[in-house]
Amino acid sequence: MTTTNTTNTIPASTTNAEGTAADRKYVFHSWSAQAQISPVPIAGVKGSVFWDADGKRYLDFCSQLVNLNLGHQHPRLVQAIKNQAEKLCTVAPSFANDARTEAARLIISHAPKGLERVFFTNGGAEAIENAIRMARLHTGRHKVMAAYRGYHGATAGALAATGEPRRWGSEPGVPGLVRYFGPYPYRSSFHSTSPEQETERVLQHLEEVVMFEGPKNVAAILFETVTGTNGVLVPPPGYLAGLRDLCDRHGIMMIADEVMVGFGRMGEWFAVDHWNVAPDLLCFAKGVNSGYIPLGGVLMSGAIADSFKDRPYPGGLTYSGHPLACAVAVESIRTFEDDDVVGQARRMGEEVLGPELRKIAERHPSVGEVRGLGCFWALDLVRNRTTREPLVPFNASGAAAAPMNELMGACKAAGVWPMAHFNRLQVAPPLIITPAEARQGLAMIDQALSVADKYYTE
Ligand SMILES: Cc1ncc(COP(=O)(O)O)c(C=O)c1O
Repeated sequence: MTTTNTTNTIPASTTNAEGTAADRKYVFHSWSAQAQISPVPIAGVKGSVFWDADGKRYLDFCSQLVNLNLGHQHPRLVQAIKNQAEKLCTVAPSFANDARTEAARLIISHAPKGLERVFFTNGGAEAIENAIRMARLHTGRHKVMAAYRGYHGATAGALAATGEPRRWGSEPGVPGLVRYFGPYPYRSSFHSTSPEQETERVLQHLEEVVMFEGPKNVAAILFETVTGTNGVLVPPPGYLAGLRDLCDRHGIMMIADEVMVGFGRMGEWFAVDHWNVAPDLLCFAKGVNSGYIPLGGVLMSGAIADSFKDRPYPGGLTYSGHPLACAVAVESIRTFEDDDVVGQARRMGEEVLGPELRKIAERHPSVGEVRGLGCFWALDLVRNRTTREPLVPFNASGAAAAPMNELMGACKAAGVWPMAHFNRLQVAPPLIITPAEARQGLAMIDQALSVADKYYTE
């Protein structure tokens, strides 16, 4: 049975079963075998909480797709949409628009030094496409190096740059992408025994890849500042400075993908700020306006912007700098400033999420490593701490993925909705989550982890 929602004409499902059935009849979902999914209908949301049509409440420990930095239905963002909708809903990108100008000005005011201009897109993948295009045209070179484990989006170029299984279904992709292994001290591809050694060995590997590809052919090195979905891989000390140096020595553009980790997620405005390194291009999306209206973009150096002073930039989008999306970005950044949201995220990491997750690891042998910063953390789950055998194999599905599915099931049953990816449970709540809510969600995860411990072998 469905009833008519009083505020609009979209029928609201009264139960999970109804909502899921209706959805499955008409909607085709991302990345999924359509008959094997049961999308949960969301009936309501507020701050760090959402609830389903059956009334079950969940703490949103994934910020939806790690985009909801200011939480659900933030009153200032909702009002900004209403105000802008009354004023001007849409305008072609060739006109100037005050919401777009102010969004760009505010973003630049918080960006790493030297990033002076913004090109707006509708999301992350388009930001990556344009950053690659800019780097290629600016340098006159064609190759782009991108890391295994990186995810950069689902358009052709962004997916070709992606270094994990989501790329496989779209191969062969666009030419000119060269892959390398980035740092991952806990599971080092270089047999490193310390983070410092990992930095040294990865930089040596990169130097060799550049040499074999021909430095004069390499336009850019693309990387997630902190690899997000594939493990919250925080770069070891000295790594980003070393990468900056390598790029400078060879005239290679450094492209930081901060689609997931920008705008306070890691406890700084941009993740690169932790290491005081400024890239030549920085891609953002998600947290720029919490995804209330789709928005992404590329921040570029003055030198790159100047490349297109007297020759046209060969790229554009009908909705580049959409006023509704930009108005939410403006209000979001002002809210960050007024409420010290970046400071809140940093303190949440230092005082609650980090320490509490480390205590949880002491109680659960299946937690091999805890890593993260700010409001983004991963538990790398293992079957054995000495061998570090992952709780489930790489890219596990079906029966092989059962331990992680059981663990997620236990989390949801308790009332918390974290991210699960391969053998990791990841925690990414809204940056405005209260310490009490964070502790409540962590207690639920603590309890659920007994499921993972069952698979532990001495
Ligand atoms: C690091 C990173 N880059 C790019 C993207 C693609 O962004 P979008 O889905 O908005 O195109 C994502 C999406 O999750 C991401 O995590």
